Amino acid sequence: MGPLSAPPCTQHITWKGLLLTASLLNFWNLPTTAQVIIEAQPPKVSEGKDVLLLVHNLPQNLTGYIWYKGQMRDLYHYITSYVVDGQIIYGPAYSGRETVYSNASLLIQNVTQEDAGSYTLHIIKRGDGTGGVTGHFTFTLYLETPKPSISSSNLNPREAMEAVILTCDPVAPDTSYLWWMNGQSLPMTHRLQLSETNRTLFLLGVTKYIAGPYECEIRNPVSASCSDPVTLNLL
Ligand SMILES: *[C@@H]1O[C@H](CO)[C@@H](O)[C@H](O)[C@H]1NC(C)=O
Ligand SMILES: *[C@@H]1O[C@H](CO)[C@@H](O)[C@H](O)[C@H]1NC(C)=O
Ligand SMILES: *[C@@H]1O[C@H](CO)[C@@H](O)[C@H](O)[C@H]1NC(C)=O
Ligand SMILES: *[C@@H]1O[C@H](CO)[C@@H](O)[C@H](O)[C@H]1NC(C)=O
Repeated sequence: MGPLSAPPCTQHITWKGLLLTASLLNFWNLPTTAQVIIEAQPPKVSEGKDVLLLVHNLPQNLTGYIWYKGQMRDLYHYITSYVVDGQIIYGPAYSGRETVYSNASLLIQNVTQEDAGSYTLHIIKRGDGTGGVTGHFTFTLYLETPKPSISSSNLNPREAMEAVILTCDPVAPDTSYLWWMNGQSLPMTHRLQLSETNRTLFLLGVTKYIAGPYECEIRNPVSASCSDPVTLNLL
């Protein structure tokens, strides 16, 4: 292995995660209305902070809005709703930290890991005597990724004799896992195998060529973080 000329883990990122933050998944299904866009502000929120799910381009003359946690629109997932006469109703999914505004935007205070994931905004438009017309929009809230850490089944393997299992913690939703060795992507060798989620790396017999240092990285569409390196000491 040559000198560590490669940049550290997070600097390998080539994709532009921050451009993906405003995720619009549905179109209002009536003609003449603009696209409703939901945007998290700030786009990258960490635990304990507040985030506002800003709703842009709402159609006019709405009767009300309902926010659901997740993509199911049933009572169990009902967070809160706003009716244009100013009435606010809370449902079972209301945590006490959500505030819906008259413009449909939803403020979530003191964000926790459980707040990550999808939200559905259901809007009800006054009908022309035939009842209401409805539409719904889904948005995924990502939290800033925590700094991961590597746990090892064995830090002092005997060369080529013992397998080592490296695991990247924590398990986080909507997250992908990447591994780096010597600051570079993993070498192609049958001795290195990844689990299906890439969270676990199996070293099937450690030779000096694959003794490390290893770093793991977790990414979601708004952020990425790297662990401290772990180096195996060959006995
Ligand atoms: C909706 O209201 C909230 C609270 O008053 C405000 O912060 C936000 O900017 C408003 N959203 C839009 C799209 O105007
Ligand atoms: C909204 O309602 C007002 C009065 O009820 C009406 O004049 C206006 O045309 C409506 N706007 C839209 C976009 O339907
Ligand atoms: C948010 O957390 C702060 C500090 O822990 C607390 O004072 C405040 O009441 C919390 N707000 C909500 C809406 O839970
Ligand atoms: C695991 O990593 C490989 C590349 O090393 C990638 O092609 C694959 O999509 C990843 N799988 C998951 C579930 O992220």
